[in-house]
Amino acid sequence: MGFITEETIAFIEAVSIVSVETGIAAYAVGGFVRELFLGEKNEDIDITVEGDAIQFAKQVARLLNLTNVQTHPQFQTASVQAPSEGWIDIVTARSEYYPYPGALPVVKSSNITEDLRRRDFTFNAMAIPIRERKMLPLVDPFSGLKDLQKGLIRIMHPKSFHDDPTRIFRAVRYQTRLNFQLEAETKEAMQTALKANVLETISNDRIRNELIAILHEQCPNNALRLLDEWNILKYIHPGLTAVHAYNGLISQIQSSLTQFALLIPFYKIVSWEVYLLGLISILQPDDAQNFLERYHFPRSVQNKIDELRVVQERDLINILEQHDHLKPSRLVELLDGLSKETLLWLMAKVSTPQARFHISLYLRTLRHVKPQINGHTLLKMGMKPGKAVGDVLRAIRKEKLDGRLITLDDEKTYAKKWIDTYLTDGT
Ligand code: CTP
Repeated sequence: MGFITEETIAFIEAVSIVSVETGIAAYAVGGFVRELFLGEKNEDIDITVEGDAIQFAKQVARLLNLTNVQTHPQFQTASVQAPSEGWIDIVTARSEYYPYPGALPVVKSSNITEDLRRRDFTFNAMAIPIRERKMLPLVDPFSGLKDLQKGLIRIMHPKSFHDDPTRIFRAVRYQTRLNFQLEAETKEAMQTALKANVLETISNDRIRNELIAILHEQCPNNALRLLDEWNILKYIHPGLTAVHAYNGLISQIQSSLTQFALLIPFYKIVSWEVYLLGLISILQPDDAQNFLERYHFPRSVQNKIDELRVVQERDLINILEQHDHLKPSRLVELLDGLSKETLLWLMAKVSTPQARFHISLYLRTLRHVKPQINGHTLLKMGMKPGKAVGDVLRAIRKEKLDGRLITLDDEKTYAKKWIDTYLTDGT
C-alpha cells in the first residue's frame, strides 16, 4: 500500500465525519486508489459522494477551517483548497453517456457503481468508502484490482475509445508509466477505433492537453515511441512522425532534466515545456508555425519559442560547441535572458561535453552572481540617477564573474574609479 500525507488523512477524517452527519456515502476514487495499491506516494485525492457534492464540500471545508471553496453547480462538483495539497475535488456520483464519438458526455447524478462504470480503465474504476474514519473494504465491481496486479490496461466496454478517444492517449501514458500491457480485447477495440479515425473527432485543445500530459510523464520518449508504434503521431502533427529524427534529443533532454533534479532538487523546471521545445525545434519552420497555430499553447510556451529565435540570432549552438574556454562573463553575456527551460533544451541540443558543462555552470552558479553593491550605494557615492548606474552595476558584475573583484570593498573601489570617469565626463 502507498502512503498518504498527514494533511490527506485529516481531509479523509473530515469527509468521514460529514458523511456520518449527512448520511451521504463518500468514496476516495480514481488515480488515488490506483496509486495506493501500487504503493506510490499519494497526494492527489479525489472524492465522489452519492449526493450534493457542493453542500458536502462546504461542510468539509468548515470542519477543517478552510475558506477557499470553488463550486461548479452545472457539473455538481466543488474543489476545496488545502494548504499544501492544493485543490481537492469533491464530485457528485454520476452516470454519463456520449451522444456521438468524441462529444463531451451528458451526465446525470447516480450511485458509485454507475460512476465507476463510466470511467476509462478497470484499474481506475475502484473506490474506497470513507466511513467512520475507516477506508475499506474496496468497491471494485469491475475487477480493477486483479487487472492492476496483472499489469493489464482494460477498458470497461468495447465502445470506450469511440466514446472518448482521449483514452487512447491515456492508455499510452499508463503503458509507459506503469509498464502495463493492453489486454487483448482492449487492444482490438483500440485498433478498431483508430481505423475508424476517432482521433479526428476530438478538438485540438483536447489533443494539446493530452500531448502536454504525455510530455509531463517521467519518460516521454517511451510514450512517443509507443505513439509511433500505434501510428498515432500523425494525428498530433504529420511533422512528428519521424521519431528517429528526435528521440536522441528527447533522451538527452531526459538526462539533462534528471541531472538537474539530482543536483538542484529545489529548482522548479516545467519539464514538459523543455520536451515541447525539443519537438518544435526539430520541425521544419512551416510545420512549427502550423503546429503552434493549431494548438494554442499557453503564453509561457510562446515566450520560449521567441527564445529559440534568440538562440539562433546569437548563434549560440556554434559558439558554445566551438569554444572550449569561455570566460564566465562571456557565458553570462551569451546566456542571460534565457529561461531555465530553454537552457535545458540547449544543453541537450549541443553536441560537446564542454558546451554542456558551460551551460550547466551558468545554470548552477553564474546566473546567480550579482554585485553586492547596489544602485542606492552608487547614488550615495555621488552618481546621478540614470542609465549610467546600470552600466556601472553591469561592469562590476562582469569583473566579479571573472574573479577580479571579490569583496564589497573591491566593488566600491572599482565603482569609485567609474564614478570619477563619469563625473569628469559630466554624465
Ligand atoms: N477518467 C476517465 N476518462 C478520462 C479521464 C479521466 O475515466 N478520459 C477518470 C479515471 O477514473 C481517472 C479519474 O477520472 O482515474 C481522474 O482523472 P485524471 O486526474 O486525469 O487521472 P488520474 O487517474 O488521477 O491520474 P493520472 O493523471 O496520473 O493518470
